[in-house]
Amino acid sequence: MTSSDAPILELKGIGKSFKSKTSIADRLTGRGARVLRAVRDVSLTLHAGETLGIVGESGCGKSTLGRCITGFYEPDEGEVLYAGRPFLETGTRLERSRAIQMIFQDPYSSLNPRMTLAQALDEVLLVHGLRKSTGERSNRVDELMDTVGLPPALKHRLPHALSGGQRQRFSIARALAVEPRILVADEPVSALDASVQAQIINLFVALRERLGLAYIFIAHDLNVVRYVSQRIGVMYLGQVVELADADSIFEFPGHPYTRALLSAIPEANPEHRRETASIEGDLPDPLSPPPGCSFSTRCPMAVEICRNTAPPARLIAGHAVRCHRGEEVAAMSKSMRSGEFGPHASRSS
Ligand SMILES: Nc1ncnc2c1ncn2[C@@H]1O[C@H](COP(=O)(O)OP(=O)(O)OP(=O)(O)O)[C@@H](O)[C@H]1O
Ligand SMILES: [Mg+2]
Repeated sequence: MTSSDAPILELKGIGKSFKSKTSIADRLTGRGARVLRAVRDVSLTLHAGETLGIVGESGCGKSTLGRCITGFYEPDEGEVLYAGRPFLETGTRLERSRAIQMIFQDPYSSLNPRMTLAQALDEVLLVHGLRKSTGERSNRVDELMDTVGLPPALKHRLPHALSGGQRQRFSIARALAVEPRILVADEPVSALDASVQAQIINLFVALRERLGLAYIFIAHDLNVVRYVSQRIGVMYLGQVVELADADSIFEFPGHPYTRALLSAIPEANPEHRRETASIEGDLPDPLSPPPGCSFSTRCPMAVEICRNTAPPARLIAGHAVRCHRGEEVAAMSKSMRSGEFGPHASRSS
């Protein structure tokens, strides 16, 4: 039974691994291919009209998670539920692609260089049987161009004649052509200039409000994610280590890794920057992650239990946090906001 506030998408303990290529060392030691767990035990929900931002360093599993959501990858563990039903058992592949569409960092690689924008959009409508007559399809092409803010005259151009921003607008139009309910946007503005980034981000926000879309918005830049998202999930080595309301993540980070990410943003939170060392050390080898908490090798707060036992996700002050010391981290963030440690006083002096 689905109620109006039931999530449109639910991930329950998703895991996705890849077999690594065997190296010479692997062969010499006879251990064969190793397994890289790119996404580990990720659970989250997404509601209609909501944007869930996903952030984390390169290689933490954001794109792999996105591809598990769209059905491009079948997870090895857990379930992806769409409107309460297992997504991969929902209709044909074509029907599933109408429900969830993906937008990439570099739209050029997924565009046919020989098709004009109008031809490409027409083809999508035709394949999905969405408008019967040529005239209806032509009207819909004009409407889609308008929806994403592309001048009508561009529809007879080829993709290479577009600027980066126009190309991303076009890839959004192509995704919208099938009237999806969810867009998974994987670093959709990372390749664009700052001024163009802002325009495309504003387009995403406007489209969500107008069309009631739900987004999974993936980016490595926490500021970009904050602007578009109602909730944010922070990933580290394949896991979501903190998930909470966007404003709350910024104000009261509950995981040492989130605090470290925030401290790397100059204007984000002067208080946290003062009190938190930025992340030291390298990302561990994802083929052999640390035995306990995956962040323990870089965490300024790590103690014995962190190095031995993986922390489960716990709800602390409204944040789902994977940290043994989550209560202390939350308390530190709260007391800094209230000025207990005196950062406001020192800031004004
Ligand atoms: N098809 C694949 N085969 C083998 N390993 C893969 C494959 N795709 C991703 N990986 C590995 O899985 C891990 C997660 O990769 P993923 O691309 O999901 O990270 P990401 O967070 O999207 O990184 P980026 O910010 O660089 O895009 C990485 O260690 C990566 O090398
Ligand atoms: Mg990626």
